[in-house]
Amino acid sequence: MPAPLRVLFSAGHSGAWRIDRISPVIGDALPGAARLAVHTAPDMPAAMSEGAAPAWILAGTTSNLRYTTGAEADALKARQEGLGRAAATRAALIPIRKTQAWWDLAQDERRAIFEERSRHIGIGLDYLPAVARRLHHARELGEPFDFLTWFEYAPEHAGAFEDMVDKLRRTEEWRYVEREVDIRLSA
Ligand code: HEM
Repeated sequence: MPAPLRVLFSAGHSGAWRIDRISPVIGDALPGAARLAVHTAPDMPAAMSEGAAPAWILAGTTSNLRYTTGAEADALKARQEGLGRAAATRAALIPIRKTQAWWDLAQDERRAIFEERSRHIGIGLDYLPAVARRLHHARELGEPFDFLTWFEYAPEHAGAFEDMVDKLRRTEEWRYVEREVDIRLSA
């Protein structure tokens, strides 16, 4: 695994991505804003107070895998493509917080729900390489969400992306989601 990468998502007046919509899926939404900037270390803004104050900032970090088996990791590596593809002019930032009941489970119980019963990786694999993704952990940083999930895809795959999100939201895993906001973006 590469070293953890710190990432800041800053919503406000500037940034490479236009915010098309911010939809609360479960629990409270986030304030509206026009643009989203994605900063990765070491290119973090020197001071957040510079210029117009952002509407909100979410911080996360990439990490090691928790639930993925070796065979699943190989299958993912064989199919997935990286972020920043020229054709991938649509993106989704989906921050998610899971319930205390989820965090109270043991590792093997979480894995059973995540993959054996919900087929999270199995469902996701069907949508590679159309969708590129990066998972950020935020719980350990004391953030309002546990995860900041990021996806990039071409406009012609927008329908497939909706199908995947619908399937995942109907799984047992999602019964443990207590806050989810769906933020859609265009380049
Ligand atoms: C975790 C794959 C789509 C939300 C994971 C993990 C994998 C994965 C392999 C486990 C990482 C680990 O071992 O720790 C995929 C693939 C997708 C996809 C291939 C297809 C593009 C999505 C979507 C969402 C999502 C659309 C949100 C709507 C999450 C969350 C976690 C996660 C919140 C962390 C779960 C936890 O640690 O409790 N995903 N995923 N994924 N994914 Fe996905």
